[in-house]
Amino acid sequence: MFIDKTVVVGISGSIAAYKAAELVSRLKKMHARVRVCMTKAAEEFITPLTLQSLSQNSVACDMFLPAGKWEIGHVSLAAAADIMVIAPATANIIGKIACGIADDIVTSTAMATKAKIVIAPAMNINMYENEVVQENIEKLKKRGIIIVEPESGRLACGTFGKGRLAEIDDIIESIYEGLLYEKDLIGKRVLVTAGPTREKIDDIRFITNHSSGKMGYAVAREAKRRGAAVTLVSGKVSLAPIKGVETIYVDTAQQMYNTVIGRADDNDIIVKAAAVGDFKVKNTFTGKAKKENIKTLELERNPDILFELGKTKKYALIGFCMETEELEMYASQKLKEKNPDFIVANDLIMEGAGFATDTNIVKILHQSGEIEDLPIMSKSDLANEILDRAKILLK
Ligand SMILES: Cc1cc2nc3c(=O)[nH]c(=O)nc-3n(C[C@H](O)[C@H](O)[C@H](O)COP(=O)(O)O)c2cc1C
Repeated sequence: MFIDKTVVVGISGSIAAYKAAELVSRLKKMHARVRVCMTKAAEEFITPLTLQSLSQNSVACDMFLPAGKWEIGHVSLAAAADIMVIAPATANIIGKIACGIADDIVTSTAMATKAKIVIAPAMNINMYENEVVQENIEKLKKRGIIIVEPESGRLACGTFGKGRLAEIDDIIESIYEGLLYEKDLIGKRVLVTAGPTREKIDDIRFITNHSSGKMGYAVAREAKRRGAAVTLVSGKVSLAPIKGVETIYVDTAQQMYNTVIGRADDNDIIVKAAAVGDFKVKNTFTGKAKKENIKTLELERNPDILFELGKTKKYALIGFCMETEELEMYASQKLKEKNPDFIVANDLIMEGAGFATDTNIVKILHQSGEIEDLPIMSKSDLANEILDRAKILLK
């Protein structure tokens, strides 16, 4: 994941400094070159030896090296960095960086680097809520530094509130975003639907489909990584929620319709990746219906969300189409009838495409008549291909 990337990890004197060991270890497992620098206070909490062993590199603790060592520590670290992450970051170090103070190896490296900087604060709630700390964090954000918000919960000092170092997963996600993503969707709102819908037969049974939600979740995640404000309308799936994405869970097609149509006009891009059931049961039962009482199920059509969205279209609208035969023919019919800007069509029985896989193979059919054949790729890569094309349509 971080092959050929150098991540400089700066550690400051917080009780959470021990968690930097886990961060360094995880980055190494993801193939990053890791260089660690730490403040004098950080050495009170974790030894350089631990970090040296985990990073398989020497650790910089001192600005002023003994005579004979010609390399200037902070300058060489700053130049080597593809990205710098300071985790945990004390109130003190945040204040120093915000004010342009560079009096130790970590702040000097932060001052000297041209690489993106990620800062993960960790401190007592009163320190975190202190006006001056908040002002400093705002200053850093304005300078393009990525702040990984601390968590709320029980703090090391025994109090409860916001200030606990963010989860290592979230710090890694921010490093990943900082390294790989151009924030080309900042200021844009993206609505994505994902997963299956369920239609009740009785209070126990329902009709659904095999959608895993992976494609829609990939679109939501990538849009968020590119800086968009994302709303995900999701059917029941077993995927973890995506931090930073507003997720609304729904059950039936009617609920998905109400949620999406109610919010549609607030968005710049709508990607309809959910597998919405076409039918609902008319003769539903209350409680658990006895087998002998369910003779036939009467079905009626659900409202068509894509068709409704295609009527006014104040946004870039992307539909999905999944077929087991005559893919191109059915997809172009859907394109004509429902009026999305383009439709992403995949063949359910093709190996590497479809519901629960991590890859997809699709054709993209445009209103202009152009048809693109995309090779097999991960759902994340496909999500970016979709967003690239949607971006061109933005007014
Ligand atoms: C036990 C202990 C825990 C501390 N934990 C934190 C902390 O979580 N966050 C913080 O901002 N400061 C914390 N401090 C205070 C900092 O260590 C202190 O401000 C120090 O000057 C920070 O130096 P540095 O920013 O150069 O690493 C703690 C101090 C002690 C003694």
